[in-house]
Amino acid sequence: MHIRFADKRPAGDYALVLPVAGKDRASLKALGGSQQAVSAALDRQRFEGEGSSVSEQFVDDNGTSRRVLILGTGMGSTPQTAAEKLGGTAAAKLQTSGEKIAVIDLTGLEYDADAAARVGFGAALRSWRYDRYRTKLKDNQKPTLAEIVIVGGNGGAGKRYEQRWAPVVEGVSLTRELVTEPANIIYPETFVERVKGSIKGSGLELEALDRAAMEKLGMGALLGVAQGSVREARLLVLKWNGGGKGGQPVAFVGKGVTFDTGGISIKPAAGMEAMKWDMGGAGAVAGAMKALALRKAKANVVGICGLVENMPGGNAQRPGDVVTTLSGQTVEVINTDAEGRLVLADAVTYVQRNFKPSTIIDLATLTGAILVSLGHEWAGLFSNNDELAGKLLQAGDESGDKLWRMPLGEPFDRLIDSPIADMKNVGPREGGSITAAQFIQRFIENGVKWAHVDMAGKAWSDKAAPTYEKGATGYGVRLLDQYVADVLER
Ligand code: BES
Ligand code: MN
Ligand code: ZN
Repeated sequence: MHIRFADKRPAGDYALVLPVAGKDRASLKALGGSQQAVSAALDRQRFEGEGSSVSEQFVDDNGTSRRVLILGTGMGSTPQTAAEKLGGTAAAKLQTSGEKIAVIDLTGLEYDADAAARVGFGAALRSWRYDRYRTKLKDNQKPTLAEIVIVGGNGGAGKRYEQRWAPVVEGVSLTRELVTEPANIIYPETFVERVKGSIKGSGLELEALDRAAMEKLGMGALLGVAQGSVREARLLVLKWNGGGKGGQPVAFVGKGVTFDTGGISIKPAAGMEAMKWDMGGAGAVAGAMKALALRKAKANVVGICGLVENMPGGNAQRPGDVVTTLSGQTVEVINTDAEGRLVLADAVTYVQRNFKPSTIIDLATLTGAILVSLGHEWAGLFSNNDELAGKLLQAGDESGDKLWRMPLGEPFDRLIDSPIADMKNVGPREGGSITAAQFIQRFIENGVKWAHVDMAGKAWSDKAAPTYEKGATGYGVRLLDQYVADVLER
């Protein structure tokens, strides 16, 4: 989708999109002579301009018929929050409508450059689709809309879009692609290759450790998960040095289980296909790193993706096995389906040893229990630092990648003590997301600020929203990008 900004409406054929805030129909002035007729039709449709309400009409425009889409933004919603929804809803409505060009006219409304830019942002995010495996799409299912022109925003919107939001669209798109691809296509090796291809020319540095390299280092927990699969594990390292020389970096660490069968503690068949997106945390880290590089963020950030496939097999690890982690601590593997925390344990140790980060933020589709707690609305946030937690909650609100803070504490930590090793990889059923977080915390070294985002309910959505279609949401990219903008670039 091409997003363009202009001072006035172009000539020729296009669908016109007009936002209407509640009962205030001032924006209809843009319709000139058709204003009365459209307004009367809105009355007959009982259109009240509420958020997400839509009226589609055709008006006579100098002898040709023009499609007009009136989009309600609700009363009292500020342009900043209505903007992405407006762009996203317009794009969704018109994408396969037969129209080639849409003009979203914001003239006369109080949209500043950023709000207008975010109309384009929402439209671009919502237009993303992945038709690679659909060879039999009917003509009327194929997208027709090629360009969205946004008029208004008092100048500067185009520049704002290119500098701030277009890079985030690229990052989110990469994440969605990685998450959408099935596990026979994206596995550790191809994950690395796909990211490498996607970030060419961005200035990101990429490095990948293979099994031999990780064996030499002693990453027994990550490799224990991978050993049942014929797909070799990888540790992907992405570096962005946009900040001052020598500044301690912030580290993002993602769980990248390219398929999670559960291993020997195998999952039930029903719904197991969903576990192709068990690499959503790693996908978000890769997408966020791409976004930061493309917008040349003034920050030093390192992104780590722990990439494995969790399979049963003759060489798979067994319940009861004891593995030695990179940190030297030992783990009794009670349940091979609690594999994400094993991968993260070695990944966070690796990043602390090699990059001395001040702050670590890990993202993982870690537990089914977080879905029981928070449903699909929020990801769970766990942190050893109140200030970091506060900043992330704020970035979550600003970006729409919402977080809800969950507790940590010694009584939960005790639940993962093991009689044979330093710890076991599962606690009791109760508090399952918390004991998973406690497990990761055992690998966080003194003085390092750490936050863990359990996004098991957020990587994939069974229903569409204003900025994404059903499927991969791209959750986490905007959260990390906004955190960097708020905290590291100020
Ligand atoms: N990848 C799953 C978590 C998950 C479950 C994500 C459902 C999305 C939907 C994770 O590896 C897992 O299997 N966790 C187990 C942990 C248990 C064995 C302690 C779980 O949540 O059941
Ligand atoms: Mn699992
Ligand atoms: Zn998993």
